[in-house]
Amino acid sequence: MTETNTTLTTQPNMANRPYNSITPPTVPMVTQKRDLLTPRRFEDWRLGIPFDVTIPTNEVPYIIAVGGGKGGVGKTMVSANLAAKLAQAGNQVLVVDFDIGGANLHTYFGLGMPKRTLSDLLHPRYEDNGTLFQEIALPTSFKGVRVIPGSREDAWHIYSNWTGDLFHHVWQGILLARKNLGVNCVILDLGAGIHQHTIDFFAAAHSGVIVVLPEPTSIENAYMFLKAVLWHLVSNSARQLMMPDEQINAIKELLTSEKMASVLGQGGYLGRLRLLAKRYPLLANKIFRMLQGREIGLVLNQARCQKDIDVGKSMEHICKNYFGFLTRYLGFFNYDDVAWKSLKNQKLLVADFPHSLLAKRISDVAMKICNTRI
Ligand SMILES: Nc1ncnc2c1ncn2[C@@H]1O[C@H](COP(=O)(O)OP(=O)(O)O)[C@@H](O)[C@H]1O
Ligand SMILES: [Mg+2]
Repeated sequence: MTETNTTLTTQPNMANRPYNSITPPTVPMVTQKRDLLTPRRFEDWRLGIPFDVTIPTNEVPYIIAVGGGKGGVGKTMVSANLAAKLAQAGNQVLVVDFDIGGANLHTYFGLGMPKRTLSDLLHPRYEDNGTLFQEIALPTSFKGVRVIPGSREDAWHIYSNWTGDLFHHVWQGILLARKNLGVNCVILDLGAGIHQHTIDFFAAAHSGVIVVLPEPTSIENAYMFLKAVLWHLVSNSARQLMMPDEQINAIKELLTSEKMASVLGQGGYLGRLRLLAKRYPLLANKIFRMLQGREIGLVLNQARCQKDIDVGKSMEHICKNYFGFLTRYLGFFNYDDVAWKSLKNQKLLVADFPHSLLAKRISDVAMKICNTRI
């Protein structure tokens, strides 16, 4: 890791900082990220997608999901600004607001309350009216960025009716975005919590970005989120192998039970998965392939001191060695008042304060997402 990644150089009085001193790096195209898009990796990636979802070959855009389990940690700030940075590099980006009930992605782009939103696709009332994903996509003032707004309206109704069927249009919309919208990169701005659909979409990403604050509650939620993702991959593998429910439950017990910790030692889930391989080699092989087909990037947001930054490093270690994910600490974002100032100005941070340290860090993370070879 470079010096700039490990040292927090912000001053306490952020309001007086000059914003003209930092030139953000040039971000490359996501298509340069070939290592995750090779045929072998494609196969490993597709193993993690729910099996009732049809995947078009060679037409899938690069999918980045931004999650983390907790609300208010900066997921939307990261999604929106990342989209702008990737578009600046020449990508055609679609950002989807999955925070049903707390949708505010459109606000980050200075857009008013949209007339048509994701709930038009999810509401049973609209299910068969031919509303297409691409019709809802709104252009933004950023060339190359479109958004699918989420909705606060009908949120309870939608939650209570979430079924796989209702999500059919959404899955198709994302996976066919390259063909239908000319989009080569889709960013999923996920909501808080570990609802099954939130986890499904996170697991569907080539790059899953976990945004975490250096606070025990946020760190705890991030681990719960990752545990849910891992379990999603395990149960997906078991279902693909047509394992009966009793066997799946026994495997879940083996992987998650606290009682087993004393029997299995301290190897974490990765250690337990290795043990599983002895009894269920086919299953373990599938799980390990799924783990190879996607990567987890960690972003430590609102860092105020070196200790905060180090939290990201130790989480990287745990994600790799305890959970078994291909993991990379993408870097930290300093706490900076420009985050709320730009929101108040109804502008995107990277446009409103392009020379701020935070904007530079967002560029750094975008560059790492594009270039990472784990
Ligand atoms: N690095 C940062 N420094 C200061 N404030 C931040 C930073 N990142 C995010 N925020 C603020 O935190 C709040 C929540 O961010 P948001 O992206 O909406 O969270 P989430 O989508 O995870 O619920 C916003 O008011 C945003 O301006
Ligand atoms: Mg949000």
